[in-house]
Amino acid sequence: MTVTGDAATNEQLIGRSDVNDLEAILSISNRDVDAADHRVDSRFDSLFTWDYAKGSRPRLDRLYEKAKSSQWNGATDLPWSTDVDPEAVVAANREVMGANGLDIDVSGTPFEHWSDAQWLELGVESQRWMLSQFLHGEQGALLCTSRIVETVPWIDAKYYAATQVMDEARHVEVFARYLNDKLGGNYPINAHLRMLLDDIISDSRWDMTYLGMQIMVEGLALAAFGFLHDTTTEPLLKQLLRMVMSDEARHVAFGVLSLQEFYAGLSTAELRERKEFAYEAAVRMRDRFLQQEVWERMGVPVKEAMQVVSRSPERQLFQRMLFAKIVPNCKKLGLLDNGDTWLRERFQELGVIEFEDLPDTAEEFTVFELAQY
Ligand SMILES: [Fe+2]
Ligand SMILES: [Fe+2]
Repeated sequence: MTVTGDAATNEQLIGRSDVNDLEAILSISNRDVDAADHRVDSRFDSLFTWDYAKGSRPRLDRLYEKAKSSQWNGATDLPWSTDVDPEAVVAANREVMGANGLDIDVSGTPFEHWSDAQWLELGVESQRWMLSQFLHGEQGALLCTSRIVETVPWIDAKYYAATQVMDEARHVEVFARYLNDKLGGNYPINAHLRMLLDDIISDSRWDMTYLGMQIMVEGLALAAFGFLHDTTTEPLLKQLLRMVMSDEARHVAFGVLSLQEFYAGLSTAELRERKEFAYEAAVRMRDRFLQQEVWERMGVPVKEAMQVVSRSPERQLFQRMLFAKIVPNCKKLGLLDNGDTWLRERFQELGVIEFEDLPDTAEEFTVFELAQY
């Protein structure tokens, strides 16, 4: 839900007054886990343009040309024959990440008497859970991008978005295959992620699709994939993430380049609505990383587990790092300072404003290109 004006409070935007209220976060969970599909009501205008002048937006045109020559094949370009032993992977990652992966004293907590086997199982389930949410997010991107082909007014953007539809199909394909073939299947979608995707899909304004998906969801994905890519020792997953990231960086750049032009023409009140939408998305994404479904599966009291884990420096670093791409991109779009500083203050409260001066993805995306193409 997006509410405009100075009166918009946390209560109205995210349904709770304290952003860190664990009870409120936990009160939302996915109860229809057996449903085969999920329907979202949405209405939007499909827009034809008669202006076919290719290249009138040169940076989008260059991105489109780059996308056409950077396509890869998820079925043949990845070493699917790699044997993956999830427990061995977790054990190897532990060597890098420290004893139980949390780096905190667990005496007096539900984890106090946990065996090595339980810690290993937690590692395996956490990985499976996280990749499952990426899978569902990728499907969200597939739907959003096909929507953008219809709604965006510019031919260069329609062309580019069409290449992204193919990219996202490939991402859904490879994450689904990895989960199914190597990890024994996927978790259902997390309720907070589903709420966010529903919000993005049900908004009729074309720029909100971009803001929710290309800037927020994909910005977070790019940072999270980077973290996983750098920390995993599993070669198939490492290569899969590397290839997906080369596409994702382009997608985020597409969002920044498109919205920069559109936002330049918006009023302070219209910009404020975008800031509130961005904040709501940021909180929903933070909530979903609490992985409540994993704690339920492991049979530990969820709230207590979250409180313990939230003390882990490793965990705190990961939570903040998820915003490493989002914050500089929001700054580039003028969302931190143009009109008012409302979003800057919210990012300060979330403890992520420190990222504001990192490179934005419109400039940085070429760093992620695959050398072999
Ligand atoms: Fe993707
Ligand atoms: Fe993407």
